[in-house]
Amino acid sequence: MIIAVDGPAASGKGTIARALARHYGLPHLDTGLLYRAVAATVLREGLDPAVEADAVAACGFPDALLDDPSLRTDEVGKAASVVSAHPLVRAALLQRQRRFAQQPGGAVLDGRDIGTVIAPDAQVKLFVKATPTIRAQRRHLELRKQGANVSLDKVLADIRARDERDSQRSTAPMRQAEDAAVLDTSFLSIDAAIQRAVALVEERS
Ligand code: C5P
Repeated sequence: MIIAVDGPAASGKGTIARALARHYGLPHLDTGLLYRAVAATVLREGLDPAVEADAVAACGFPDALLDDPSLRTDEVGKAASVVSAHPLVRAALLQRQRRFAQQPGGAVLDGRDIGTVIAPDAQVKLFVKATPTIRAQRRHLELRKQGANVSLDKVLADIRARDERDSQRSTAPMRQAEDAAVLDTSFLSIDAAIQRAVALVEERS
């Protein structure tokens, strides 16, 4: 069984994908980390994420980089959204994601284009969403816990800019697959969202 979980930043898709993987005993790939690893490599080398050739050269990053906590910062997330718009970067990371999806026994992948491009034949597709304001509040709380001193308005502006870039790019834009079930987590607790996700998987598998 392949479970594709897509949606915007801070929608809850990562938490839901991890919980589904645990529930069904499936391996899980957070595909955002691949774009974050490319972005972190570009930034570390002092190169420009907007230059396609520089971003493509960074696609050979070592696997161990995926475990690096520095990939989770907002700065890297923003640069990931820039490198991920380059068609050649998406092409370079495609096979790796498809191989992961097609391993025997199945897998859970979360990202922006899993149900539309990486695994269009996935048995279960979820599109997880929440209002921009609620996603900004969640991200703001997270950043505050990490000790960052950033305003809610700035976080909301960043979320809107990232949504815009991810959904307007020409290659594999973020969009809901036609056969995806929508899960709006705006007014759900984490536990309730996970329960709803399991119920949707049960209905569809
Ligand atoms: O999900 P996360 O915030 O870690 O993703 C970082 C960025 O990587 C996203 O803003 C998006 O631009 C890009 N991404 C993508 N396709 C995916 C996963 C992430 O374009 N499947």
